[in-house]
Amino acid sequence: MEPITLVLTGFIFVVSIVYLFVRSKHNFWKDQGVPYAPNPHFFYGHVKGQSRTRHGADINQELYQQFKQRGVPYGGISLFIMPSLIEEIEMKDVLGRFTTDVIGTCAFGIECNTLKTPDSEFRKYGNKAFELDPVTLTKFFFASSYPQLARKLHVRTTQQDVEDFFMKIVRETVDYRESNNVQRNDFMNLLLQIKNKGKLQDHDTIVGKGEVGLTHNELAAQVLIFFLAGFETSSTTLSFCLYELAKNPGIQDRLRDEITRAIDDNGGEVTYDVAMNIQYLDNVINETLRKYPPVETLTRKPAHDYVIPGTKHIIPEGTIVQIPIYAIQRPRICIGLRFGVMQTKVGLINLLRKFRFTPSARTPERVVFDPKMFTLSPTGGNYLKVEKVV
Ligand SMILES: *[C@@H]1O[C@H](CO)[C@@H](O)[C@H](O)[C@H]1NC(C)=O
Repeated sequence: MEPITLVLTGFIFVVSIVYLFVRSKHNFWKDQGVPYAPNPHFFYGHVKGQSRTRHGADINQELYQQFKQRGVPYGGISLFIMPSLIEEIEMKDVLGRFTTDVIGTCAFGIECNTLKTPDSEFRKYGNKAFELDPVTLTKFFFASSYPQLARKLHVRTTQQDVEDFFMKIVRETVDYRESNNVQRNDFMNLLLQIKNKGKLQDHDTIVGKGEVGLTHNELAAQVLIFFLAGFETSSTTLSFCLYELAKNPGIQDRLRDEITRAIDDNGGEVTYDVAMNIQYLDNVINETLRKYPPVETLTRKPAHDYVIPGTKHIIPEGTIVQIPIYAIQRPRICIGLRFGVMQTKVGLINLLRKFRFTPSARTPERVVFDPKMFTLSPTGGNYLKVEKVV
């Protein structure tokens, strides 16, 4: 064979291989039987023009609208020649499962695994604890105003099955740890120390004098409040944060860049210090909490008669004072602040590194709060379009 023929044959061979390879890549979703967007550009796939003439938001919106018109909830596309999937996901539930798993392991020392098994009992009773109806609300106000009377009348503000579930979990965990002498670096371990010894010991540091312990019920109450306060508030914050980031792509891009830079500067590792020192992440979370404080009103009771400064008005001891957090747009510091902010940051860092969030056709222009939920929660869920970042 002439050298020129050889080169030509080789060239045609290579081109054919490349062609077949790219074709098979574009056919990935078709072969999987998954609905896919038609007519990918040979090299650019479905991102033709992105970053040059069109914003990704517009391209993806168009693809999404096509899938929606075809009545499919997700669909395959090609990012250049790599198969990808555009999906619409209800984020509030996913995030609730994430924080449930986090709190489960930190409070109870239990792997809830609700991310893997969405219909687990932890989710069922966890959600139920935040459902609000007029009867529960009345009981709640009554018990807050007249705690002693409410106790005598056996007024319950937690639903029986919710209480039973959590009490059972706590009892089993306590029994297991005590009979097997399990030591674990978590909240339950601290509570057990207080219950049994009346003090906390961490190496050489000792807190408390060892006088009064906790009863089993008091311990269970602490665990329950830690669990409830720990998962819903943070997942609500995460959910509203992603909603706002989806609607403000410029801020989302900048946050993703800053997260990526901070992690790269730390040799690719996400550590506590990295998570805590991204200033822009702090700004984004604080702004989310200003617009959407998960608990919209705080109640406090003065321990003695209080004269409102500069007036003759007296708030009598024991009167319920409501502080409208949502209305005054000022989230309050709380004892769980650092824990909550940390899990919120870890969640955001991991999500934004890997995914881009954009509004879908079901993302409302303005959030309407669900009247049947105690915390701020979007009516109809928080549907966003989710795609992998490349
Ligand atoms: C965000 O809020 C926390 C808690 O209130 C505060 O410590 C922090 O300084 C705030 N960050 C910014 C950037 O304002």
